[in-house]
Amino acid sequence: MHTKVYKLTKTSADDETIYREAASLIRSGKLVAFPTETVYGLGCNAFDGQAALKVFEAKGRPADNPLIVHVAFPADASEVFAATPLFWKIAEAFMPGPLTVILPKKDVIPNEVTAGNATVAVRCPSHPIAHHLIMVAGVPIAAPSANRSGSPSPTTAGHVLTDMDGRIPLILDGGPCDIGLESTVIQLEGDSCVILRPGAVTKEMLETVCAEVKVSRAVVSPSSVKGNVPSPGMKYKHYSPSAEVLLVNAGRFKFVSFVNSAASPGDAVFSYSEDVGRFRKDLIVLDYGSVSDIETQSRNLYALLRETDEKGAPRVFVRRPKQSGKQLALFNRLIRAAGSRVLNVN
Ligand code: TXA
Ligand code: MG
Repeated sequence: MHTKVYKLTKTSADDETIYREAASLIRSGKLVAFPTETVYGLGCNAFDGQAALKVFEAKGRPADNPLIVHVAFPADASEVFAATPLFWKIAEAFMPGPLTVILPKKDVIPNEVTAGNATVAVRCPSHPIAHHLIMVAGVPIAAPSANRSGSPSPTTAGHVLTDMDGRIPLILDGGPCDIGLESTVIQLEGDSCVILRPGAVTKEMLETVCAEVKVSRAVVSPSSVKGNVPSPGMKYKHYSPSAEVLLVNAGRFKFVSFVNSAASPGDAVFSYSEDVGRFRKDLIVLDYGSVSDIETQSRNLYALLRETDEKGAPRVFVRRPKQSGKQLALFNRLIRAAGSRVLNVN
């Protein structure tokens, strides 16, 4: 299969031919990759179980890991699942945006999409291309991240092409994703909610509308939950490059001196922009973003993990982020990429 890549800059009238082509692929049971504000998604008609099976096949995704259903407007969520008063409160505060909510599904959503679960995850993306595609398709779009299963999520159309060339008919290229990490995934329980996957909508933000916000144990300690997890995605070693990820718990300058003494020639390091000149010249030094700029570090993470592999580094050293605020999402992706190991350096 030939994979077309169409560049879209904005939702102007000139682009409507492209949207019509993409929408008709979706409606006829085919797959289209598209940008969202978090990462690129690999979309299909969420009402079409056979199309969902093609998504699992193209990704090499384990059959028990359900897909997120994307809707154009928050109000459309009620067609897909049993929306509760708390859902509407959360939707009012954070949708459209990088937040996914899980609730009991309605019958219109086939079991193939939810991998047999009685619940479905719903998200309303804020990215104008994603929004417009769902609207023109006229159906909700089920979409996981558009990477091959196990590799880092794609944050550019180029990443999608690397993983999906020849496997899908079309990629919509909307440039690099703004956020760069996948959406926050939450489950609702009465007045409170549980974070199954942290993202740009933080615990602290959710606390402004939910009576109580819990963080699933698997978020900070993936190795502590084996088998019985609330979200199937939690049990897979995700977000992971071929290089070994060494997560180092150390102060900023301790980190630099530790890497300079412990790394082998050809190893890679994620360096704060301010520290790029502080590392040995036989290391692959990748600029991670300014020292306190968590948004930029998040935006860069997956692209840098891919670059680490392209450059053939056997190992990559990364400083361990904190476990609060926007850093929790970074921490969660890195701890999983590192297979739950942290090197403590004092
Ligand atoms: O930002 C995002 O969420 C991106 C963009 C494309 O929207 N999508 C994404 O999808 O990251 P995916 O499939 O890579 O991750 C979805 C996660 C998985 O860990 C899956 O197990 C969980 O959400 N999930 C989906 N439906 C669920 C359900 N019914 N119950 C529990 N977990 C669910
Ligand atoms: Mg994924």
